Amino acid sequence: MRLLVTGGAGFIGSTLVDRLLGDGHEVAVVDDLSSGDHKNLAAAAGSPRFQLHELDIRAAVLSGLMSEWRPEVVCHLAAQISVRASVADPVRDARLNVEGTVNVLEAARSAGARKVVYASSVAVYGRPAAIPVPGDAATDARSPYAASKLSGEIYLSMFRALHGLEYTTLVLSNVYGPRQSPEGEAGVVSIFTDALLRGSPTVVYGDGSQTRDYVFVDDVVEGFARACSSRGDGRRFNLGTGTQTTDRELHALVAGAAGAADEPRFEPARLGDLPAMAVDPAPAVEGLGWRPRTDLATGLKATVEWARSR
Ligand SMILES: NC(=O)c1ccc[n+]([C@@H]2O[C@H](COP(=O)([O-])OP(=O)(O)OC[C@H]3O[C@@H](n4cnc5c(N)ncnc54)[C@H](O)[C@@H]3O)[C@@H](O)[C@H]2O)c1
Repeated sequence: MRLLVTGGAGFIGSTLVDRLLGDGHEVAVVDDLSSGDHKNLAAAAGSPRFQLHELDIRAAVLSGLMSEWRPEVVCHLAAQISVRASVADPVRDARLNVEGTVNVLEAARSAGARKVVYASSVAVYGRPAAIPVPGDAATDARSPYAASKLSGEIYLSMFRALHGLEYTTLVLSNVYGPRQSPEGEAGVVSIFTDALLRGSPTVVYGDGSQTRDYVFVDDVVEGFARACSSRGDGRRFNLGTGTQTTDRELHALVAGAAGAADEPRFEPARLGDLPAMAVDPAPAVEGLGWRPRTDLATGLKATVEWARSR
């Protein structure tokens, strides 16, 4: 199959590219390298079935590029991913994530693509009433980032109704693994890993009881690969484990994997941080035949080994 991956030089996108090439597909990446890195595509670059286009997803030329490549499926992962950055500059967030997504969908439609697989976020659930959050839970955007991700979901549904462009939305919980950047606030696993391997201090905000649902990047990529078929057409699925891990537990696990002392500094909880989050993957089990396979200890070991080898 021929595919196009936006954000394919990033953490999740590049892992997906390697997986799709490994499955024998032809893959073009569109990425402006604003947070992505050529290094993530070192293996892919050696394949005759791969091409990289260093381009902003908002560019007018995207449509021509897609019409030339004629992908059957577009995996749309390019985005501004920081909640804090979205609060600081909601206009920039909307330009990248809303305008960018509309440009990708319009280009996919005009190039005759069959389907778009979209990376959404658990941020769209706001402060959920029940945990693990069921797949059919109400959405409640409480940040510009959540609003922009949710608007992408609405545009997908609209493009399907108006033009018959198929889609699957994958609502990702806290993804971790090799290639995740320790910069910014998003990847607490990579932040802890980087600091603990350097012997730098680590910080846990609040009393350490805040929980998140950590899902390994290879498992997430498996979800994308499955959604590239006709499975899950017109549906949205949570990709998470349903299991909550506290910040304190996570620190101890990463410290153990890194062979470092488990002695975080505690600082006051940050305004707006959710006390708990986990999502129910049951609909993805039923609709995609997907389930998370990697337990946290195994995934953390792989992540620390990768960080150590850099
Ligand atoms: N990492 C997580 O835990 C998580 C959780 C929920 C959702 N997501 C979503 O998954 C997707 C991938 O996230 P990631 O963690 O791999 O982040 P990432 O920052 O590593 O990847 C994003 C990629 O998009 C590219 N990009 C950004 N703006 C662009 C633009 N205007 N034009 C072209 N390329 C652009 C960046 O250069 C980068 O390569 C995002 O859509 C994100 O919102 C991630």
